[in-house]
Amino acid sequence: MEKEYWPSRISFVFAAIGSAIGLGNVWRFPYICFKYGGGAFLIPYLVALFTAGIPLMILELGIGHKMAGSAPKAFAGTGKKKEWVGWLACGVGFIIIAYYAVIMSWCLNYFRHSFDLSWGFGQETQEFFHNTFLNRSSSFKDIFPLSPRILAGLAISWAMILLCIWKGARSVGKIVYLTVPLPWICLVIFVIKGITLPGAEAGIAYYLTPNFAALADSKVWLAAYSQVFFSLSVGFGVMIAYASFLPRRSDIVNNAFIVSLANCGTSFLGGFAVFGALGHHASKMGVDVAEVLGSSQARGFGLAFIAYPSIISTLGKAASFFGAIFFIMLIMLGIDSAFSLVEAVAAGFIDKFKARRLRVNFGIAFVGILVGLIFTTRSGYYWLDIVDHFMNSFGLVAVGLLECVVIGYFYGTGKLRDYVNSKSEFSIGKWWDVMIMFVTPVVLGISIALEIKDRIFASYEGYPRWAEFAAGWAVVIALPIVALLLMRAKERRPV
Ligand code: PHE
Repeated sequence: MEKEYWPSRISFVFAAIGSAIGLGNVWRFPYICFKYGGGAFLIPYLVALFTAGIPLMILELGIGHKMAGSAPKAFAGTGKKKEWVGWLACGVGFIIIAYYAVIMSWCLNYFRHSFDLSWGFGQETQEFFHNTFLNRSSSFKDIFPLSPRILAGLAISWAMILLCIWKGARSVGKIVYLTVPLPWICLVIFVIKGITLPGAEAGIAYYLTPNFAALADSKVWLAAYSQVFFSLSVGFGVMIAYASFLPRRSDIVNNAFIVSLANCGTSFLGGFAVFGALGHHASKMGVDVAEVLGSSQARGFGLAFIAYPSIISTLGKAASFFGAIFFIMLIMLGIDSAFSLVEAVAAGFIDKFKARRLRVNFGIAFVGILVGLIFTTRSGYYWLDIVDHFMNSFGLVAVGLLECVVIGYFYGTGKLRDYVNSKSEFSIGKWWDVMIMFVTPVVLGISIALEIKDRIFASYEGYPRWAEFAAGWAVVIALPIVALLLMRAKERRPV
């Protein structure tokens, strides 16, 4: 089989940026930032970016390029019995894509609702999201009926994903010329609109004023680290697979910095739109910015589907227009992240089992839709909440930790650093080894330990234990087992 390559260097940079910039920047970053006190969050976020995000990005691009293969192949190349770490990364990626596609389906539906603003005004948006749109049940067990519109959106999302990756790196390399700059232009429009709304200053002050007292809270730090990983798409094997499609003469350090800074710069920029709008909203309602999203539902998961629509509705005649652009922007942001996940998982199977690309892609889509069905049910919201939480607090963090351990203590940071430096215009120094061997694994280790402690004392969000087990622990336990089995499966030799 012919090896895949990016059509050009710039298409790799675009694809990697497209994978990194996603719902994580516009949906997750603002709500996490808001939850942890606005300006209080930015300092840990920047520290996490430089001490863990960029070093791991260099690690993933480095081994992907050096071993010229997807995550399982790359880890198999680092030493005996390490391949499963790569499969684990793919496994976490697969679970994430199963629900990411459902959130994309919500976006598609909301795009349609923006035409007649059927989500309503103010408080009504919350009602609309939970009751009218999700038809949310009050118990996990109340599943039926599945929502036809969310199912339809899910099918469309998968169809779009499959079309984009039809020809692998070759088609992805072209599509990202659209899906990266267009949402960026939309975002800039939103930023300009957001900061010029009356009352925006208060929101922006909340966003930018540092709060040094919050730095003593370990939760803020942990939230910052996991947000950086999720946002940079590291810990899922995506960057490893993408780097493996790079030609042999490519710059690694440069690319790692460009992708990471572009991604985090986008989150920072997007923050102005969000906090400007929140300031405006607060002044309209005559409350403090910290109070503006009263209920925890509007703050968390719901931000993109409750708070944004309620802000958009205040824009008068232009509301439908801004609503439509906003949700198109989310869809475009999401699609290149979604297909990067599928590409990473598919690359694992193509490398090891010499499977045909189309067959693998359709297989992943089929299983992805099957798993996704649970999120389209009346209790789908809760299932999604648990899976997202467990994948981000355990799956992702565990993969990052294992990557550091494998490279730091088995393969050797020096060896990988020499390779990376031989391919890069700017060299990385010993600081990188320190990050990979000590700083990142210690922070991630503490993060997992604290999370386990929390979960022992109380279930996540007070959800019933059985549901937490089924959607959380069971997946967390099953993934390494599947990863080990895939490692032991026989490799197919090329014919
Ligand atoms: N980084 C993407 C985002 O910010 C999400 C993602 C995670 C994409 C992992 C690919 C892999 O939305």
